Amino acid sequence: MGKTAVIVVPTYNESATIQTLITDFEERIFPKTDWQCRILVVDGASPDGTAEAVRQLQKKYSNLDLIVEEKKEGLGAAYFKGFRWADEELHADAVVEFDGDLQHPTDAVPELLATLDGGADLVLGSRKVKGGSYPGKWDPFRLFLSQFGGWVARFLLFFPMKAFWRVTDATTGLKATRVNDKFRSLHFENFKSRGFGYKIEMLFKLVQFGAHVEEVPLKFQTREAGESKMTGQTPFEIFQTAFSLRWEHKGTRRFLKFASVGFTGYLVNAILLEVFVHLAWIARLASSFNFLEQTGILGFLAQPSGWAAAFSVEGSILNNFLWNNFWTFHKEKAANPLSFVRKFLGFNVTSFGAVIIQFVAIGLATHFFGNTTWVRQLALVATIGLLVIPYNWFMYNKVIWRRKHKKRAH
Ligand code: GDD
Ligand code: MN
Repeated sequence: MGKTAVIVVPTYNESATIQTLITDFEERIFPKTDWQCRILVVDGASPDGTAEAVRQLQKKYSNLDLIVEEKKEGLGAAYFKGFRWADEELHADAVVEFDGDLQHPTDAVPELLATLDGGADLVLGSRKVKGGSYPGKWDPFRLFLSQFGGWVARFLLFFPMKAFWRVTDATTGLKATRVNDKFRSLHFENFKSRGFGYKIEMLFKLVQFGAHVEEVPLKFQTREAGESKMTGQTPFEIFQTAFSLRWEHKGTRRFLKFASVGFTGYLVNAILLEVFVHLAWIARLASSFNFLEQTGILGFLAQPSGWAAAFSVEGSILNNFLWNNFWTFHKEKAANPLSFVRKFLGFNVTSFGAVIIQFVAIGLATHFFGNTTWVRQLALVATIGLLVIPYNWFMYNKVIWRRKHKKRAH
């Protein structure tokens, strides 16, 4: 028994192209792959006779199916019906999303399926990888909108998670998806979007489920017949979908809380740095290292600012621990006084890493660039942004407030 792939083609008024598309698949493309391919056209009750054209071809091709919707309900809605039919009635092992207007090259399908064979759960046709391209006849504004919108969607959905670096074309319309438990957990009836936004919603959810995503190049063609079904609202619908998906993402909300706590910590840190650098005992501590000034690199130990930075971090540690324990990680917060003390001590230990990071970085910066307020404060911002935040996020999640392992439901 071969593997079955169902090419789902949504159509609304595509009578000019649908015959050419189907014939090309049947005669030229399907013989090139060892998958058993079927075509499923989901027509949004087109008034131009698209469905009738498909019915004519059904006499010739037994692997051609047609669903005619009661009315046009949106791109997502059409695909949900097609996916369900492909899974339940046609027992598809994979579904391919394919436009009916000849903008997607049929030659890409065997490559998509071969990439599924290589172990991917989801393969995207990308216009942004080497070998992929946008329609030659698009004007610069249209091109910019698509590029910019695509980049915003990619950023909103995935930055800075692994998928951000992996998925170059989040809004692409050409995809192949393996029909497995991840696909079946999508529950399309609960989707936010039934329009074009379903594309990024499906991608986002599959990535959340741990799907393995790959990309192949897509040379997106110019539309030569008929009209795009995108409206002026479509980009906003896609943006809104991306934004609310990301907003509801648990890890992201946690990170935003963590970041705000970090910012209050930064304020405490910055103020204390300026206070401490003027304290007499800090100056005495630093001057006890004056003898090292001749030795070059270790001379920074004689700078009061390095010491002031180290001590000011300690002030922000207490601030951050309290906020994180009772707010950011409140679900994993210390359950009793003993665990509270243990967590606080643990927090101090991991924070000592940050103390060392700042001690070295700010000490070195003032050693090389001068001990001024500007150097100290710029060095502080750079050190926190590039070193302390990634370090803390990792330690809080993986050590201090590590989630207890729970068995996955279902
Ligand atoms: N049944 C049904 N119902 N079909 C629809 C509907 C609908 O509401 N809306 C669009 N279609 C069909 C079209 O007839 C076409 O075959 C296919 O879906 C793609 O629609 P187009 O209107 O041609 O989309 P596009 O070319 O502007 O947009 C393409 O690029 C986008 C990313 O830039 C598509 O590939 C999109 O899926 C993709 O997101
Ligand atoms: Mn199109």
